[in-house]
Amino acid sequence: MNNVLCSIEVSIESHFDFFSLISKGAVLNMNNIDAITNLYTRKEQSLQGGQARFDRERENKHILLSFANSIQERDIVTYDHSRRVATYAQRLARYVGWSRRDARDLALAALVHDLGKTWIANDILHKADTLSDGERKTMERHPLIGARILIGCDVHPFYVETVLYHHEAWDGRGYPSGLKGEEIPLSARILTVADVYDVLTSQRPYKAALSKDAARERLLSGSGASFDPMIARAFLNLLDSQPHFTLPQRICAIPSTAKTAYHVASSVRL
Ligand SMILES: [Fe+2]
Repeated sequence: MNNVLCSIEVSIESHFDFFSLISKGAVLNMNNIDAITNLYTRKEQSLQGGQARFDRERENKHILLSFANSIQERDIVTYDHSRRVATYAQRLARYVGWSRRDARDLALAALVHDLGKTWIANDILHKADTLSDGERKTMERHPLIGARILIGCDVHPFYVETVLYHHEAWDGRGYPSGLKGEEIPLSARILTVADVYDVLTSQRPYKAALSKDAARERLLSGSGASFDPMIARAFLNLLDSQPHFTLPQRICAIPSTAKTAYHVASSVRL
């Protein structure tokens, strides 16, 4: 299946068939992520004028914020976590030199990074005990499920690959693809550090929250293994230089509209 799919010569006319193949469960890997990116770029180039492009960006945002709202409805813990991760990722991206706009796009990706968990059964998602091997494998499908949902909606590949690769590890021991080092998109490397810091400092049914210092030590020990050393160092610098860097567990009231959610996620003062 993998080779068959990779060898498909995809034309712009057939891209909907291709996207629907992937979103329905065909193999998703780096080769067809490249194909998706190429198709998207060609479609972007075919758009007439700045207004069409602007509309397309707005459409992307609308889709992603709708998904963020669906996460909120499905699982408030994942939603609150995603809000904090979005804020951390946005701060970190700015710190390593990303433009405001790019950092805001990363925050948007972070808001839906665990979208695939909305398709994981409650008895696994909320389990207080250690997951069995089978349950862990099911749980580890969430980046793939999230990416497929986004592909099905034809959002920009930046969001797809950030969601797909947010559990990859610098040393190649992550999932779903086992990418290594700079093979992992920078957006996903930033998101990983933000994600892990929030998980470490959050209370979950199966674990207590770590203190800031204990979480700091875990990030430091994971640098070069789980995390891109440069990104981990940048995050630690931020953590050390800002006394109130760590966000409270509930960062704000539940917004009534998707627009509000995006505004809150993207309004971090830097
Ligand atoms: Fe995740």
